[in-house]
Formats: sequence, structure tokens, C-alpha cells
Amino acid sequence: MADITWLGHGSWSVRTSDGFNVIIDPFFDESPTAPVKSDELDADFILVSHGHADHISDAAAISHRTGATVVAIFEIANWLQSTKNVEQVIGMNIGGGVNLPFGRLMMTPALHSSQLPDGSYGGEPSGFLLMLPEGNIYFACDTGLFGDMQLIGRHGISLAILPIGDLFTMGPDEALEAVRLLKPQRVIPDHYSTWPPILQDPNAWAERVRTETDCQPTVLTPGESITLS
Ligand code: NI
Ligand code: MN
Repeated sequence: MADITWLGHGSWSVRTSDGFNVIIDPFFDESPTAPVKSDELDADFILVSHGHADHISDAAAISHRTGATVVAIFEIANWLQSTKNVEQVIGMNIGGGVNLPFGRLMMTPALHSSQLPDGSYGGEPSGFLLMLPEGNIYFACDTGLFGDMQLIGRHGISLAILPIGDLFTMGPDEALEAVRLLKPQRVIPDHYSTWPPILQDPNAWAERVRTETDCQPTVLTPGESITLS
């Protein structure tokens, strides 16, 4: 069993059956909606999808305190190591995969931008496909809709986490189209209602998923979990 917890905005925790805690896009101390602060979390791995502050801001602090390995695109992994003194990093790139103790991790494309907080080049933005014994979990992270989601879907996706906030990422209409391309068994929306410009009604979106696709939607509030078994 893997427990997947929404930690507000684009931040997630995946606790795997082997007891590893994988944090995705840590944004806690400055987040209006995070149910925890960065010093309350344990972590074994931290995945960072791109360089924007609302996805990377607490990565270094959590890694320093817990010793967690940060996995990110090569440029961000290097930046964390050289400017933030993060000791354990794995730099990878889009389309590549790496076998980690909890399962296989693939880095997927994302249509977005990725400047680091100090203005450094952050490489390309990414998403992640976590291949766990319980099933594959796709984190689209910050992205617009793209047709190659159909290829990602060919891996077979048990759970997709898709942004619906609009403005900076897919909005509800595009996220619904993403469900059609990815064909996941289940979907959870994120990256909405953190601030007024990305205010959305997740239940209205979930109702559309339920009536217009074969996918089962779940709406979480920050701090809530679902279990994949
Ligand atoms: Ni972003
Ligand atoms: Mn974002």
C-alpha cells in the first residue's frame, strides 16, 4: 500500500509500502494552504519538478535536516548542490528513468518555464512518473496540455495528479482533455485556489470527469490522503 497525501498547492507526500517517504515539490513555509511546515516532515527523497519558488523553496532545508536525496533535472540538481550545499542529489533529464529503492522514477516533459529563484537557468521543467509495485502515479506538475500525455498514458496510470488552476498551468478544460489522453484509473486535481488568481471549483471539475470520462476523480483538501493498493 502507498499513501499519497496532498500537502497543498503542488506539494505531495508518497509513503511507499517499504516505508520510504517521497516528497514532491516542497512548498510549505510560505504556502497559504500547506497543512505542515517544512521542519515537521520526514523525507527520504525529494522530487523537484522545476525551479519556481512554489515548487523548490523548502527542498534544501528539508534535505539538510533529513539527509533526503533531491532528484531534479541536471541543472537544478547542480544548483542545489553548488549554491545550497545539498549533499545528496540525483540529476537526470527528460525521458530518462532511474531505479530507486522504492521503485522506478521517470522524468516526463512539461510545458512551462523554469527559472530558479536567484535567476539562474533551471533547465527544462518536468513532471514525474513514479512506478511503484501498487501502480504508476503520474505527477504532471506545472504544465500546459500536450499531446504526448497519450504516450505517458501507455505506461498504464493508476493515479494522475493534474493541475487545474489555469493561468500558470492547465485549467479545468485542458485538464479534462489530459484525462482523456492519459486514461488514468484515478485522478486528483492540484495547483488551484492557493491564491485568488488560480481559484477553481474542484468538485465541479470532478463531476465533469465522472460524467465525461471513465476515470474516477477524488478531490482532497490539503492534509488528506488516499491509499493505492
Ligand atoms: Ni511553475
Ligand atoms: Mn507552480
